[in-house]
Amino acid sequence: MTRTPVNVTVTGAAGQIGYALLFRIASGHLLGADVPVNLRLLEIPQGLKAAEGVAMELDDCAFPLLRDITITDQAATAFEGANVALLVGARPRTAGMERGDLLQANGGIFGPQGKAINDHAADDIKVLVVGNPANTNALIAQRNAPDVPAERFTAMTRLDHNRAVAQLAKKAGVTVEDIKKVTIWGNHSATQYPDLFQAEIAGKSGFEATGSDLAWIENDFIPTVAKRGAAIIDVRGASSAASAANAAIDHVHTWVNGTPAGDWTSMGIVSDGSYGVEEGIISSFPVTTKDGKFEIVQGLEISDFSRARINASVAELVEERDAVKELGLIG
Ligand code: NAD
Ligand code: LMR
Repeated sequence: MTRTPVNVTVTGAAGQIGYALLFRIASGHLLGADVPVNLRLLEIPQGLKAAEGVAMELDDCAFPLLRDITITDQAATAFEGANVALLVGARPRTAGMERGDLLQANGGIFGPQGKAINDHAADDIKVLVVGNPANTNALIAQRNAPDVPAERFTAMTRLDHNRAVAQLAKKAGVTVEDIKKVTIWGNHSATQYPDLFQAEIAGKSGFEATGSDLAWIENDFIPTVAKRGAAIIDVRGASSAASAANAAIDHVHTWVNGTPAGDWTSMGIVSDGSYGVEEGIISSFPVTTKDGKFEIVQGLEISDFSRARINASVAELVEERDAVKELGLIG
């Protein structure tokens, strides 16, 4: 194999998502079965030993595509020449922490990481932020990387998208492959709006295929998807990890390799003002991807039902943006 390895940086590499993610990156699921990778693992000093253990296990898999592993607590080293960066490590909310404290603590992580990406990453860098609050952490990183095109910074709503697809397949009694054109709008939070009105399910509209039942959409489908993260924490006793890692793989794979014809995906991206979403915030949209670039799907009809829900989630993102501005984390 003669291809130049792609440098993939993963932050929070010793955490639970990291453990579910790294082996799939190294086995070719992120970029393709013919793309060799170098892994750059960024951890805080307390996480370095566990990251070394993960690297030992990666060695023991003898993955043909895995060329090199770097483990570091220095952002400059981790992002040097990075082509793809998965920002997973974040400061979780702990007891007694207000939202402002959480944003401040994450600003202390994503601001410097954005700057390190700006100063050290490769020209074609693509960034996916997974660590919560993902959209606003992505915004902080993006605003601290003025030399990197804004569209290279994205936030993960693919897990929400996949959750919506799975719920729809169950309700409609079809397989997930029969579900197309689902959208997650807004924030990766309980205000997100999973939209089935544009969806196509085995040749029918999403509404019709799920029984034309607005009460089910409002009281079951939307809250089940939007609160699924909390439900997993309740039942599993820990936040989603394998499904989050799987969604991160899907997000980057789709970004790099394209959406299938007749379908789209959901990505948190810098808004260009489409669908009335305030320009500059990082909000989830329906997008198609091709040749490593994405475009927002335009021209969708937005009903009053959908508009109210998109507006509510966007309003939350604007509040978060204003809060991090107030804290001096973005200009
Ligand atoms: P975890 O606590 O198991 O692991 C996080 C790791 O990040 C730890 O090893 C920690 O040492 C490391 N870390 C902390 N600060 C760091 C820094 N500044 N630089 C590098 N590493 C750092 O958590 P997890 O379960 O792997 O989840 C990670 C994040 O992903 C959380 O914020 C979680 O809420 C979020 N998440 C997002 C989604 C989504 O859909 N967007 C889904 C699930 C989880
Ligand atoms: C999820 O959607 O599973 C996570 O964002 C939940 C969380 O709070 O980590």
